[in-house]
Amino acid sequence: MNCSDLRGLSPGPRQIASGVFWAGVNDCVKDLFESLWPIPDGVSYNAYVVVGSEGAAVIDGVDEHLAYEYVEKVREIVGDLGRVKYLVVNHLEPDHHASTPRLLDLARNASVLVSSVGAKIIGSLYRVPEDRIVEVKDGERVDLGGRTLRFVYTPWLHWPETMMTYVEEEGVLFSCDAFGSFGALVRGIFDDEVDLEYYLEEAKRYFSNIVLKYSRNVLEAIDKIEKLGLEIRVLAPSHGPVYRKHVDKVVSLYRDLSQPKLCARATVVYGSMYGRTEEVARAVAETLERSGASVNLVDAARTHPSYSLRLIVESAAVVFVFPTYDASVFPPVREVMNYLYVKQAGRGRLAAILNTFSWGPSAREAVDVLSRAGFQVVEPVVTTKSMLSPEDRKKIEELAERVSSELRRFGSCA
Ligand code: FEO
Repeated sequence: MNCSDLRGLSPGPRQIASGVFWAGVNDCVKDLFESLWPIPDGVSYNAYVVVGSEGAAVIDGVDEHLAYEYVEKVREIVGDLGRVKYLVVNHLEPDHHASTPRLLDLARNASVLVSSVGAKIIGSLYRVPEDRIVEVKDGERVDLGGRTLRFVYTPWLHWPETMMTYVEEEGVLFSCDAFGSFGALVRGIFDDEVDLEYYLEEAKRYFSNIVLKYSRNVLEAIDKIEKLGLEIRVLAPSHGPVYRKHVDKVVSLYRDLSQPKLCARATVVYGSMYGRTEEVARAVAETLERSGASVNLVDAARTHPSYSLRLIVESAAVVFVFPTYDASVFPPVREVMNYLYVKQAGRGRLAAILNTFSWGPSAREAVDVLSRAGFQVVEPVVTTKSMLSPEDRKKIEELAERVSSELRRFGSCA
């Protein structure tokens, strides 16, 4: 069963620890997350409710078109929405809080708990009465009666205001975007109920698309949680499964992606208008493979950049093979480069450039954007005419060998 088979249905509310409930929803309607990233199997917005003897706190919310389902789940958990004392805002992005005005209209006693940066910017996103906004400090606690919320500032995961919330008695960490994954929750909500390998693979794509730029902040957050000695018995992100059996697996995955131990893997990203440049790209890939490298070959015109980024994040080198188009880099390849620049994805990775042309090269444009993206560009870049001369073939072979030689220092991926 996939997301569309659900016909808009999500699992009902689920208890994830004593007094702690999942009240999330599946989004099987959107085709693009952030209007950028394909989600063929949907995505979940995981909201939660913590219930103590003195009242309840709702942890985050959902996107606007699913607000009704979310509010009804909260109501089912707490009985009377008047029992909701707090709405905790870990992160203001609308996939988590476009539902907030509706919840606040109905949960009339709820105050909005938000970080100091969040308190400054919440009004730029949502209609929330100022007297209902309460700034919480890093490390501050709120007692719900037998359930204590502790707020941990974790900025830039993935906006400046982000924080996490920890339920001290139960060891539940609401981590918001961190440790998230694409994919609606179709067979259950826990890591031991779903196809975990699928979600971990989608967590890699989610990381590459959403979190990559903030890799240093991921490491700082993990470090902070460890130094605070917060035992995580249940890790409850805002997208993807709730982890109760394999907390370490997803934390390690995020740590490794944030400081990748790169091996001799190259991704060859190519664009080809009439097939000739594709032949060049295949020849480069074969040379790299012969040298022992692990190689991904990506036709940028037929692969969404979301998937290219996912492959590049685990690659030590990226080889761009493209023709000049309208005196510029062939647009689908340029689009991948643009995303790499926006995400600052280079981080010392190698980039090799091979540009075919008939009357004007565009390789320097590629050097410029890739250098600004943090790549170490392998020089000299190679430009060839569309009709390859014997010298062109030699230059291509030499470039592939230079990349192979550079890759050897990373060690085998086996
Ligand atoms: Fe899931 Fe940054 O929002």
